[in-house]
Amino acid sequence: MKRKDLLGIKDLSKEEILEVLDTAKEMKKILNGEKYSQILKGKTVVTIFFEPSTRTRLSFEMAAKYLGAHYGNIEVATSSVAKGESLIDTIRTVEMMRADVIITRHNMSGAPHLMAKYTDASIINAGDGINEHPTQALLDMMTIREKKESFEGLKVAIIGDIMHSRVARSNIWGLKKMGAEVRVAGPSTLIPPAIEKMGVKAYYNVEEAIKDVDVVMGLRIQLERQKSGLFPSIDEYREYFGINKERMKLAKPDAILMHPGPINRNVELTSEAANDKYSVIEEQVTNGVAVRMALLKILCERRN
Ligand code: CP
Repeated sequence: MKRKDLLGIKDLSKEEILEVLDTAKEMKKILNGEKYSQILKGKTVVTIFFEPSTRTRLSFEMAAKYLGAHYGNIEVATSSVAKGESLIDTIRTVEMMRADVIITRHNMSGAPHLMAKYTDASIINAGDGINEHPTQALLDMMTIREKKESFEGLKVAIIGDIMHSRVARSNIWGLKKMGAEVRVAGPSTLIPPAIEKMGVKAYYNVEEAIKDVDVVMGLRIQLERQKSGLFPSIDEYREYFGINKERMKLAKPDAILMHPGPINRNVELTSEAANDKYSVIEEQVTNGVAVRMALLKILCERRN
């Protein structure tokens, strides 16, 4: 990969995705203690998250530290952003402290793209509004690849709040490039009317969507991005679209269940289903560290 930044999966080629996944496989050996490496010694990694995060921010911190980098974090709420400092001034300030890679999450789609124009540091998009969450899609693809070996012809159902989901968008771009067949399902109020232009089929009945798929991916209902209440209600959503053990029986016998987290248990996914043998949700978390180690390695190598 020759690019300075990782801003979205839409921009990546299949070969670049495979490079990240292959590198992540190697990085997992370091994560699991089978190998030792300090390949990022002397490099500096900084996170700036304008929206809440547990998995993504911490896994970048762990990834940087596992590979021997210096690591810093800006707590946005107590930073000069709270005094009105602009995005561009913030990013320039971090670069002047010799950051090599800056990882950012922002509620505005396109914020990482703007930041990337004003710094020589590599920018990684850790989620921008409803646009993309590329590192989530990469860790999801790594998890699928560990279980299914090939993406070609794989049937993947993404179920939930597609309208507001950057995870869905990045996964659709990525999985389609890798040769999978992707379908989305949810109430019509939570599926963008133009989604089929992305080459996916929309289902408004969850049983039909899950039937004979290899991968079921549940998504959180993003109440924080909904301006005028949820239609249907949470109770109706759970009844008509919630993933449970009965509905999982409609998928292929060796299907896997994924969720990017955080889970609203007993809304989009029952605890029983989330904890069942077909669930790979916790493996996704571990693979998140490996994928982020891989991205830091690849982007820092380009800077050498
Ligand atoms: N999946 C994901 O992005 O989780 P966090 O919001 O906890 O980072």
